[in-house]
Parts: sequence; C-alpha cells; structure tokens
Amino acid sequence: KYQLKSKDFLQLADFSTGEIHYLLEVAQQLKAEQKQGIPHPYLTGKVLGMIFEKSSTRTRVSFEVGMLQLGGHAIFLSSKDIQLGRGESIADTAKVLSRYIDGIMIRAYSHESVEELAAHATVPVINGLTDLQHPAQVLADLLTILEHKGKLAGLKLCYIGDGNNNVAHSLIEGAVKVGMDINIASPPGYLPNGIITEKAIAAGKLSGATVTITNDPIRAIKNADVVVTDVWTSMGQEEEAAKRLKVFTPYQVNEELCQQANADFIFLHCLPAHRGEEVTTGIIDGPHSVVFDEAENRLHAQKAILKLLLAE
Ligand code: CP
Ligand code: NVA
Repeated sequence: KYQLKSKDFLQLADFSTGEIHYLLEVAQQLKAEQKQGIPHPYLTGKVLGMIFEKSSTRTRVSFEVGMLQLGGHAIFLSSKDIQLGRGESIADTAKVLSRYIDGIMIRAYSHESVEELAAHATVPVINGLTDLQHPAQVLADLLTILEHKGKLAGLKLCYIGDGNNNVAHSLIEGAVKVGMDINIASPPGYLPNGIITEKAIAAGKLSGATVTITNDPIRAIKNADVVVTDVWTSMGQEEEAAKRLKVFTPYQVNEELCQQANADFIFLHCLPAHRGEEVTTGIIDGPHSVVFDEAENRLHAQKAILKLLLAE
C-alpha cells in the first residue's frame, strides 16, 4: 500500500497520515500473529545494530526480541564500547556499519547526530530516542490508544509536564497526523519546541486537529480522553533535578486533577516513572492506567517499523 522500504524512522512528522495508519495496521497484524503463535519470519537473516548512548530497558529489549521474532538478529552496541565513543566520526561509523548490517537503531543525546548518521548510512536508521524526539514510543502509544478507544481521530489527548521533551514533541507530531486534538500544559520555560509546534499546527489544519499549549493543567485536561505525562527530569538533565522538582510540582497528574478528564479516560506513561512526582500511585497503578499495555506495544509497533523498513 505504502512504500516505506529503505526509509529512515527519525520523527513522525516525516510520515503521512496514511503511512502512520499503515504502520499501526501492520503492528496489529504482527501482534495477532504473535499471540496466535503464527511464525512471521519477514526478516530472516537480517541484522539490526542497536547503538545506545543512554540507558534503556524497554527499547533495548523490545527491539532485540522483535528482531528475533521476525527471524532476524540484533546486536547491542554500547557507544562506550564501540569506537564512536573514542571519537570515530558518525559518518565513518554509519558507512562501516552499513557494510555489515541491514538497519541501525540508535538512542542518542543529540537529534542532529542521529540525522547525520542517517545521512551517511545506506541502510535505514531508526530513532530509539533523542533529546528531541521519541517517535517509536509514540507509535506504540497510538496503537495503545486505538486498542482502548477504538479510534484516534476526534479524541482529545492531554500531556501534562515537561513540554520541551522528546515524548511531548513526538506526541504533538503523532496526534496531529491522526486527527487527535492535543493539549499540552507545562510551566513557563518548559513549553514545547516552537518549530515543532508551528509545523504541527499547520499539519493539524489538514487533519482537523488542534494543538493547544498552556500553563494551566486544569484547562488542558478538561474533557480529555487520554492523559499522558513523562518524567520531570529526562536522561542527561540530572543536574537540574532539584530545580525541576520544584517547578513541576503543580503539574502532577493526581486523582484531583484527573477529575476534570472524561470519566473513561486512559492514562499513559512511557516509563520509567517516578511515582509521587509526575504521577501518583493511585493514577499509574489505578483503573485508568494502561501503561503496561503501552510498554508491550513497543514490541508490536517496532516490529511493524522493522518489517516495513527492512523487509524486501
Ligand atoms: N520508554 C522507554 O523508551 O523506555 P526505556 O528507556 O527503558 O527504553
Ligand atoms: N523523557 C524521558 C523518556 C525516557 C524513555 C527521557 O528522555 O529520559
């Protein structure tokens, strides 16, 4: 239907509404095949290299297991152990790895360095999180919302917390592509990236979705179908943790705030979570939370990415 072979997966803004729905459809097919025990070896003999500059539980395990279930293999490459960590250039790393493997997944600090890797690699590059974007996470989030709500277009999603982070940026891009309204509530100084926001507002004009940025969590969560938050201190920001704890305290997702959401709202968090900071135990471990379905869906959504980008 859509030709995604050899494309990179760097940010959701690079994909059309139809392509995102196609990825979700393939993810649902692969999930059904896996649940029914039907083998689906679309990537027999293919190898994914996985470069990690930062820690990971879900991303590392779900990509590695996903490659195995698709009949392929994954190689974990800590940036500390490969020559990249000793100063070998991104360009040379990309060119050399492209001679051995069929795709590269990378989790890095700088989004620009992932773009540079993709520019020099002759195999697809998949973004496994940068400081700016976490698109594989949001594809899994869309799958989870679709499963629980039966649709995406016309829903209202609200994200409360650090608007200037990877998850928030990818959510903004993903929501507008599928016609879901998105409200972001963040403290002054922590609003989403202006360029990403402007482009999303323009994309939303085509799909009928709105992007609302506010400092007011109550305004943002009113009538929300989906409530999302993320950690207040992302990887690499550890020295700001004390300051952030103070700034973000009024933005905690708790029982009182969630009274303002729709009665059947679902709660998402990419995990890892800090219970008692960005979210209370009552919410993340309560009846509205779907965080473990969301974590599982990383596997299925990424298998769709891998199949469509790497398979013949
Ligand atoms: N949500 C997520 O990307 O988790 P990891 O950091 O464990 O990969
Ligand atoms: N915003 C978080 C997401 C972790 C999966 C971080 O970058 O640390």
